[in-house]
Amino acid sequence: MTNKKKYLITSALPYANGPLHIGHLAGAYLSADVYARFLRLKGEDVAFVCGSDEHGAAITIRAKKEGLSPKDIVDKYHHLIKDTFDKLGVTFDIFHRTSDPLHHETAQEFFKKLDEKGDEFIRETNEQYYDEEYNQFLADRYIKGTCPNCDHEEAYGDQCEKCGTALSPLELIDPKSTLSGNTPILKETTHWYFRLDKHEAWLKEWIQEGKFRGEVTHNPNDWKNHVTGQCLSWLDGELKPRAITRDLDWGIPVPLKEGEGKVLYVWFDAPIGYISATKAWAKANGKNWEDYWKGEDAELVHFIGKDNIVFHCIIFPAMLKAYGDVSEPKYVLPINVPANQFVNLENQKISTSRNWAVWGHEYLEDAKDKVTNHIDVLRYVLIKNMPEQKDSEFTWENYRELNDTDLVGKLANFMNRVLVLTHKYYNGVLPTFDPATSMNGRSEGEQTTFKVLTQAIGEKVAALGQAIDRYEFRIALKELIDIASFGNEFLQHNEPWKKQKTTPEEVKAILSAGLQLVTVFSVITQPFIPNTSAKLRTILNLPAVKDGDYNILLENLKAGEALLPAGHQLEKASHLFTKIDQEFIQFQMDKLEENNETLSDLTPLKEEATFDDFMKMDIRTATILEAEKVEKTDKLLKLKVDVGFEERTVVSGIAQHFSAEEVIGKKVLLLANLAPRKIRGVLSKGMILMAEGEEGKLVFVSPPEGFGNGHTVS
Ligand code: 2FM
Ligand code: ZN
Repeated sequence: MTNKKKYLITSALPYANGPLHIGHLAGAYLSADVYARFLRLKGEDVAFVCGSDEHGAAITIRAKKEGLSPKDIVDKYHHLIKDTFDKLGVTFDIFHRTSDPLHHETAQEFFKKLDEKGDEFIRETNEQYYDEEYNQFLADRYIKGTCPNCDHEEAYGDQCEKCGTALSPLELIDPKSTLSGNTPILKETTHWYFRLDKHEAWLKEWIQEGKFRGEVTHNPNDWKNHVTGQCLSWLDGELKPRAITRDLDWGIPVPLKEGEGKVLYVWFDAPIGYISATKAWAKANGKNWEDYWKGEDAELVHFIGKDNIVFHCIIFPAMLKAYGDVSEPKYVLPINVPANQFVNLENQKISTSRNWAVWGHEYLEDAKDKVTNHIDVLRYVLIKNMPEQKDSEFTWENYRELNDTDLVGKLANFMNRVLVLTHKYYNGVLPTFDPATSMNGRSEGEQTTFKVLTQAIGEKVAALGQAIDRYEFRIALKELIDIASFGNEFLQHNEPWKKQKTTPEEVKAILSAGLQLVTVFSVITQPFIPNTSAKLRTILNLPAVKDGDYNILLENLKAGEALLPAGHQLEKASHLFTKIDQEFIQFQMDKLEENNETLSDLTPLKEEATFDDFMKMDIRTATILEAEKVEKTDKLLKLKVDVGFEERTVVSGIAQHFSAEEVIGKKVLLLANLAPRKIRGVLSKGMILMAEGEEGKLVFVSPPEGFGNGHTVS
């Protein structure tokens, strides 16, 4: 007897540094949820694990921004993220945290095992960027500069978000510390490097041929092209040893004496988070975690976004292989990594910093009383637009259209008509009909409306399942809607509302068949739009869908068995979906536009400054006494300014906006302790503060008339 497969489904651990937006949801979570739900519906043994990623610079940067400690930040966002997942019906078996002691132990043990192996790590001392003002080494994310590949000026030390190139801080042109804004210096430090170069050959074989440890473990043709393509371009670029420790005070301490003061790199510990989460889940549920990671029948699938491919297809597999080389039983590698691409919002890239996003928790609040079955509507729209092969678009107009056309016009329309007519004609009781006499004057084949319907549907239900098995969720959803269209055509063709007057016996057969199809929907909607499934089960007076129900459904459909017996009493029908008010769409559009206006028309906010930064500036009220143009320049005025305690010369670049005459007598604010600078041979002591309005027009920032000179501004 072969053992049952043990599926371990993972979704990328979201950083606990902010809320979830629709890009996250469509990327790594709804796909995984549909897949895990469907496996359970097939009666498979599944562990669906996730958790929050609570280490690394992403967290410390956010903490600094919000003026909170890293611990406060991860607590805050862990709970918010978990709550959003719960409400959206993402059915993780566990949503763990990488700050959990079990995870710290697991990650440290993993590191030690690889270190003891002797040939996996090298220790290297070399120069890294250091911020002298903040007295700390700069994690990759703390360094920004120009991307050597595409000239994007805001590339991070680990990656350029514009062109996607992975970078090391030393590759950045004109690097700057994001802490102080200064150019960092290079300083020596020692780190542990994982010898990825050693793993290149077998990784290539595994990615290209699906062979691992001499056995075929997967069919490479089952992997998405963009995933394999990205992996191969990494492998062709020659893998180099990669630092897996950091000089940071937030993270998992390196478990070695010589590593004191250092932590594991977040990308070393995060994927191990999948293992710790499985351990915690297994412990709480009387299971053996190793069955899911190391068993012969273990099947690992990672759901991620495209920016995480290298970590899940190269680095983590190399870690698992290395560990397995010196321990039994050995870890399996993923059978597939069906990474998604990105979702754009209203034709622009989603940007958390620009607040160009639809946030999960905000949608849940906004839509709660405005959109019928709002959770399923969002799930539907996001699955329908899942960026499976290429980047996709979310627009509010499309959201409305998909709701109105597919969910209301096709799905709900079919089911409502069947349910309403059953209540109207038979008080909600499934009618008994005699197939031999109910279809007056029809041939034997045509008499079996019910059989014909169920068999045709059986094929479609099977196709839907096969699409999910191939991670083609858009196609699976299309099958679902096609079945609804099929149901609508069936009703349109048979017109039970007309036949009730002429051949009521036939109507019994038609509506019975329709109700079988409603029952089919109560099962097959479950992975995609689970609230609809639950509602249908209530209306059908059936218990909630349970594990294994998809198989039973397929068998019954194949055999032409009734799913609901004659005489079965239904509950009252209620609306499954309703059309969406334009007002709701407008509200959402306005919300986005507000962010867009405030953020895109105006200069983006500069890097955060501390209170101390501000207090360093000595700004004084002053009056311009004299003004003249600096010779041979277009832009400069030489001003004599009364600063209360002295008169001084200031050169100001305002000549294209003001003539010398019109500025004399102006009350101004002066940055008085700016280091003196020679400009065109004139020593300038300070800077006049100006505000820049529309189209670059400058105006003075002035204290009121009569206000004295030399007063401080704070
Ligand atoms: O990109 C991210 O959001 C990471 N926090 C994903 C981590 S996935 C994993 F390996 F845990
Ligand atoms: Zn770039």
